Amino acid sequence: MTTAELHFLLDGRDVRLTNVSPTTTLLNWLREDAGRCGTKEGCAEGDCGACTVVLAEVRDGQLNWRSVNACIQFLPTLHGKALFTVESLRAADGRLHPAQAAMVSCHGSQCGFCTPGFVMSLFGLYQTEAAPDDGAVTDALSGNLCRCTGYRPIKSAAHEMYRLPVPSGSLPAPQWLPGDAAAQALFERLSALDADDRTLDIVHAGGRFTAPRSVDAFADCVAAHPGATILAGSTDVGLWVTKQFRTLPHLIYLGRVRELDRISETDGWLEIAAAVTLEDAFRAILQHYPEFSELWRRFASRPIRNAGTLCGNIANGSPIGDSMPALIAVGAEVVLRGGRQRRTLALEALYLGYQKKALAPGEFVHSVRIPLPGQARDRQLVRAWKISKRQDQDISAVFAGFCLQLEHGTVREARLAFGGMAATPKRASHAEAALTGRPFDAAALNDARAALAQDFQPLSDMRASATYRMEVARNLLTRLQLELAGAATRIDSMEADHDRP
Ligand SMILES: Cc1cc2nc3c(=O)[nH]c(=O)nc-3n(C[C@H](O)[C@H](O)[C@H](O)COP(=O)(O)OP(=O)(O)OC[C@H]3O[C@@H](n4cnc5c(N)ncnc54)[C@H](O)[C@@H]3O)c2cc1C
Ligand code: FES
Ligand code: FES
Repeated sequence: MTTAELHFLLDGRDVRLTNVSPTTTLLNWLREDAGRCGTKEGCAEGDCGACTVVLAEVRDGQLNWRSVNACIQFLPTLHGKALFTVESLRAADGRLHPAQAAMVSCHGSQCGFCTPGFVMSLFGLYQTEAAPDDGAVTDALSGNLCRCTGYRPIKSAAHEMYRLPVPSGSLPAPQWLPGDAAAQALFERLSALDADDRTLDIVHAGGRFTAPRSVDAFADCVAAHPGATILAGSTDVGLWVTKQFRTLPHLIYLGRVRELDRISETDGWLEIAAAVTLEDAFRAILQHYPEFSELWRRFASRPIRNAGTLCGNIANGSPIGDSMPALIAVGAEVVLRGGRQRRTLALEALYLGYQKKALAPGEFVHSVRIPLPGQARDRQLVRAWKISKRQDQDISAVFAGFCLQLEHGTVREARLAFGGMAATPKRASHAEAALTGRPFDAAALNDARAALAQDFQPLSDMRASATYRMEVARNLLTRLQLELAGAATRIDSMEADHDRP
């Protein structure tokens, strides 16, 4: 069963659209068709946050709120969701939402371009977190650029909004305040939309958009249309349209496939399926690998992580993508599916060359499997380091993911993976060999540093020169050795504990 009618909620009202061009961005629709010009266009590439809006949907039996960038979301991906824009916040009697009132009282409102986006990021935070600390506030605002350096009053507003009265009326209360009638009403309406199992199939002169609901239907569709573009969070694909003006004749969207929005732990593996957002995926991974917290915090911004998927990062396979070196280091695998067939590959084996992957036509990344550290955890040294010009919202010049298995001071196994050093994310096999079976002392470090020249011949580009990249990669090995030396005493004593009968 299919439907060609796009159906979502805007401020609780039904929006039903037919004949929508699949690559119309949500931002363009808001500004040009819906007359909602409070949502601004700054960069049209997910960088500045001027276009931030908030979505609500039903997931796992509850309302789920998230901020996203309207400039790179295609309109049909809203099917079954509820949309809130900056115009949604003020009550009918003119009272401001706490996110708006706090911006006024803290003098956080500076220019009209960025302010609506800041307010919506604050609203997204308000809806999801009851008492965010300063780190959580910074993270919530990490996707909003202000060039007049006005962050201090905006951060004050983020804390101040919780001291103001909770709004009452038609806007649903935040999820940390259960029992609200408007939130319950929204939940029921979204649940009814979610129960619609029909495939959304829009055929338009501007292209086709197909959004199946089951993984089998999705797999069949991808197999039947191997030339189509798989669409996940559209944080890469969106830019192909807004920046490269590419036409995409057929998009097959995986965001409505329930079975692909799953995180599971079985038989020593954490499995994250294709529709799981980066934000949810990182939260699950950090439970087992807290060493990846810097990777998470510095990966794009909150709205990008709320939309983009981990499997999209892996499938896109950019040589400067951040998740892959870290996941390769800890021994992750990808599950590929073509029609009804599945196969599993070591993640590093997915990458054959620049933009060349071991994906057969009609095949897609079903999930990524990450080994749980288990018993060996206390003998394992895991690190992931991102080197970029800016701290936040920047693309890596070099990314390193390291995992050492240690036994009595000797490196039993070394997995060293880098991004930014080759045409693909890649292991440094010569440097790994230089460390394996030896204590990680100064001599081993020197050999591993030298061996990197056999592993990589990096490029110079606008992010870094080849010389800089190689030097940084070597220095990250030195940092690893220094951290190991610091951790050595702890590991020695744990090994002693292990060896005790
Ligand atoms: C402002 C901004 C900042 C960013 N910062 C970072 C950063 O710090 N680090 C970083 O690594 N990346 C960054 N990115 C890139 C992007 O966010 C990630 O690559 C993201 O994980 C892509 O996931 P997606 O779900 O949005 O993929 P999409 O854009 O939907 O798809 C990306 C590609 O993968 C394919 N694809 C998606 N899912 C599958 C699947 N399951 N099977 C097969 N093919 C599939 C698509 O066809 C497409 O070719 C940034 C992007 C933006 C716009
Ligand atoms: S317009 Fe800049 S993030 Fe959307
Ligand atoms: S608020 Fe727009 S530049 Fe600072």
